[in-house]
Amino acid sequence: MAEPGKVSMEKIVSLSQRRGFIFPSSEIYGGLQSCWDYGPLGVELKRNVKDAWWRSVVQERDDIAGLDASILMHPQTWAASGHLEGFADPLVECKSCHLRWRSDELKDRNCPECGGELTEPRLFNLMFKTFMGPLEEEANVVYLRPETAQGIFVNFQNVLNTTRKRLPFGIAQIGKAFRNEITTGNFIFRSREFEQMEIEYFVKPGTDEEWFNYWLEERRNWYANLGIKKENLRLREHSQEELAHYARVCYDIDYQFPIGWAELEGIANRGDFDLVQHTKYSGKSLEYFDEETKEHFLPYIIEPSAGVDRSVLAFLCDAYDEDIAEGELRVVLRLHPDLAPVKVAVLPLSRREKLAELAKEIYADLRQCWVVQYDDAQSIGRRYRRQDEIGTPFGITIDFQSLEDKQVTIRERDSLDQIRVPISELRTTLAAKLSGESLFVLPPGGSIWKQGENS
Ligand code: GAP
Repeated sequence: MAEPGKVSMEKIVSLSQRRGFIFPSSEIYGGLQSCWDYGPLGVELKRNVKDAWWRSVVQERDDIAGLDASILMHPQTWAASGHLEGFADPLVECKSCHLRWRSDELKDRNCPECGGELTEPRLFNLMFKTFMGPLEEEANVVYLRPETAQGIFVNFQNVLNTTRKRLPFGIAQIGKAFRNEITTGNFIFRSREFEQMEIEYFVKPGTDEEWFNYWLEERRNWYANLGIKKENLRLREHSQEELAHYARVCYDIDYQFPIGWAELEGIANRGDFDLVQHTKYSGKSLEYFDEETKEHFLPYIIEPSAGVDRSVLAFLCDAYDEDIAEGELRVVLRLHPDLAPVKVAVLPLSRREKLAELAKEIYADLRQCWVVQYDDAQSIGRRYRRQDEIGTPFGITIDFQSLEDKQVTIRERDSLDQIRVPISELRTTLAAKLSGESLFVLPPGGSIWKQGENS
């Protein structure tokens, strides 16, 4: 029998394609480099990640409002933000094989592919350019946004006026961003089209450090509470040379991917950089009026900026496991129930009419609450394996006894425990189990991190 092994990027890519999580974009034409399509299971997983984020930062809080700004923005936005001038990577080209590289990522002065001589570095702007309207001329140039953040800054006054929120408060947004990255790769880790989940949190200057630390803790806990192993998360402070032009301080939340430690989310103290710049370029005042002190001032901004696709990849890598279950080697995705694409599988032991009828009734009932799969093909063992591999937390088996006693068996993905429950209690039992209590128990209250841990 094969031995359980460790997670690798190859295994994640293969599982993703085999089971319909993620496919190369336009695959029938040979794919489009660094673009990816989320298949039937991937789209559920990705939606669940975004929903979990939205729930924790918007729905469950009073101090953050949501936004969905357009991808195309007034071109002046990018002059104000510094992207037109500064959002560039140093590009070098090999004089022999003509491959292009980021010179700041190269260890020596020769082409990593063929050893050929490289050109001098030149700055390459990462924004995708296109034209608004039918005329392809300079006056009509617009850009695909390289971050969602700017849509929030330009709506600061709109949200403030319409929600009448007081400082500190935040605006949250999930949406696509585009970067014409010179080097891409490692599956969905770095692509040219991706999604971000960003919060811009506006605070009174002087309280920014406190709020920065608050968000570091809050965001790190979010990943851990959704099942990411604590030893696979760490905080890393940016050096002075590394800091983006807008940032006073920045930390990355890194995840230990199979390719090594790499950024999952950046948390920056942007000071008043953005509001100063947009005031200057738009001529509109973006000041906040403090009713208590009667002062006008520009708030400082703390920005937790996460990648949806990188989070999906981290959740997949962290959940991937191989073990021996029911006497067989199995691949199992131990995804948190909130993230699992399918929550429950309905598995009748036979296709016989009476049993199938009951199983379909149960299926119809449960799918009103959750994403549920019905599977009656092949042996029950094979069906469990299929569900384990896509992370389904619970399987319901319906046997001939069920016709008599109106009870069914719930099998738990992780513990492999099986319990028998009355059909009339199935919904409530599953609801309690899916709330996560039985799968991931974290200590109540306080920080889940010991002092100095992974920081
Ligand atoms: N508004 C700040 C900002 O955009 P960033 O560190 O450039 O900061 C934030 O991006 C997050 O977006 C990253 O931590 C990462 O998760 C994700 N991200 C950035 N570039 C990406 C790319 N090319 N492919 C996939 N995700 C990316």
